Amino acid sequence: MYTDWEDLQKDCMSCTRCGLCETRTNLVFGVGVPDAEIVFIGEGPGEQEDLRGEPFVGRGGQLLDKYLDAIGLSRKSNIYIGNMVKCRPPQNRDPKPEEQDACIFWLREQIRLIRPKIIVCLGRISAQRIIDPDFRVTKQHGEFIEKNGVWMMGTFHPAALLRNPRQKPDALEDFLRLRDKIGEVCTHTTLA
Ligand code: URA
Ligand code: SF4
Repeated sequence: MYTDWEDLQKDCMSCTRCGLCETRTNLVFGVGVPDAEIVFIGEGPGEQEDLRGEPFVGRGGQLLDKYLDAIGLSRKSNIYIGNMVKCRPPQNRDPKPEEQDACIFWLREQIRLIRPKIIVCLGRISAQRIIDPDFRVTKQHGEFIEKNGVWMMGTFHPAALLRNPRQKPDALEDFLRLRDKIGEVCTHTTLA
């Protein structure tokens, strides 16, 4: 267990706990502010993320930033963004259960140190791992449940919205619900 964010990041950056370490260009630790009350969790780095070492910087990331901006959130000022696995799965395949098992150690430590009030899962992979193994995004998106004092919600993955733009209005509604929940439970998150 870590007590210091810098120590955690330093050790994580040289991680070889799973086979994905062999094919990464850059490990994608996460981005945002350490005192965030809201944490977003995606699936794993894609090509652009692997090249740049930052989560959600491709087309999906640009779309995510638009939804964040719509409710006054940004990775620069008031949230943290991480992924289920920190190294890119080859050809963007789903991360394997054993890779997620190995990597979730780091995410748990990050969440333990950040102590967010709200966790938003982006897509099936993180929602099934963190909220409910049977989570169905199409049915349960936007629903908040409280687990160990943290409010959790799953919504569409930005890549899914790019493939299926008809779901965009539903995604926006989820973000508006998130804004309401922030108003209820957050104490120092100021929405721009
Ligand atoms: N998709 C994800 O799930 N995470 C990223 O960081 C980029 C794309
Ligand atoms: Fe380590 Fe996670 Fe990268 Fe696997 S994906 S090597 S567990 S940081």
